[in-house]
Amino acid sequence: MSNALLKISNLSAEFKTEKGLFPAISGVDLTINKGEILCIVGESGSGKTVASLSLMQLIPAAGKITSGEIMFEGRDLLKIKKKEMSRIRGKSIAMIFQDPMMALDPVYTCGNQIIEAVRIYEQMSYSSAFNKAVELLKQVGIPHPERCMNAYPHELSGGMCQRISIAMALSCNPKLLIADEPTTALDVTVQAQILELLKKIRKEMNMSIMLITHDLGVVAEMADRVAVMYAGKVMEEGDVRSIFRYPQHPYTQGLIKSIPHMDQKNKKLYSIDGTVPSISSMPNGCRFSPRCPDAADICEQKEPAMVQANENCKVRCWKQDHEWREGEAG
Ligand SMILES: Nc1ncnc2c1ncn2[C@@H]1O[C@H](COP(=O)(O)OP(=O)(O)O)[C@@H](O)[C@H]1O
Ligand SMILES: [Mg+2]
Repeated sequence: MSNALLKISNLSAEFKTEKGLFPAISGVDLTINKGEILCIVGESGSGKTVASLSLMQLIPAAGKITSGEIMFEGRDLLKIKKKEMSRIRGKSIAMIFQDPMMALDPVYTCGNQIIEAVRIYEQMSYSSAFNKAVELLKQVGIPHPERCMNAYPHELSGGMCQRISIAMALSCNPKLLIADEPTTALDVTVQAQILELLKKIRKEMNMSIMLITHDLGVVAEMADRVAVMYAGKVMEEGDVRSIFRYPQHPYTQGLIKSIPHMDQKNKKLYSIDGTVPSISSMPNGCRFSPRCPDAADICEQKEPAMVQANENCKVRCWKQDHEWREGEAG
């Protein structure tokens, strides 16, 4: 039996821009197993947010899903009714964002918002909902839960607000939590605490987490498996050890080389030359080829397919495509 909770195949979505319609993600395949943390990593503009919003069917009005299959608990989420999808969003898949203030309503106390969340899908009296809200606040490490119930979001720090938005996400016992850059807006120490909290709840609730980040430090800390995205495509996917020890894609190699080290104090930091292309000006062939230190002619002409590089890793790179390499040699 497969251990997959969610299996995304060939997911594509396009956006309307001033220059026309362009794909923002193309042919994305992703799998999340039960109880696993999958990190999606890539520079800003790689399509990470579009991929997660497409999965939730929450992409902005200018965008449209153009192909794909999203299998979750035996059903294709792209084929079910809107009403059912919104139930899944409330109950089985929850989401937290970079700015916790966005998820919280400034005019209600934190307590009221969590109580609301608790009572959406479960009929219960106010007092049991209140007690459950306090329990949730304890679970996410809020020091004085009762006091916090009466506080308004603006009275709390960013870290506390993120804890509250996590409490709200947990209120329905989701099977999957999607966290889009949940610590990017926080101080480093608070960032570490929130990451610890996510690990704790994954363990306690045997939840799966899709953690989106541009920070490889977060990936190293959190991931079981990693998908590296670039310009709307998954370029490499594998288990976290294999990604860090034996990165196969020149893009992944560049990202890893760009991680600052203590002992490099006086040396110049490495960075990958150039920037992520905009959706209206995707290069031909491999999308990374204009920035790739290893690009060959074929890389600029034909798009590589995803191939199995080794037991633990798949990669979309001509360097790894044995069929081509054998053809070249022969
Ligand atoms: N509403 C939109 N309209 C047009 N283009 C968009 C819109 N949202 C995202 N994009 C484009 O899609 C690409 C992927 O964006 P995004 O998923 O936000 O990247 P990431 O989350 O990896 O930083 C970018 O080129 C971005 O400009
Ligand atoms: Mg994003």
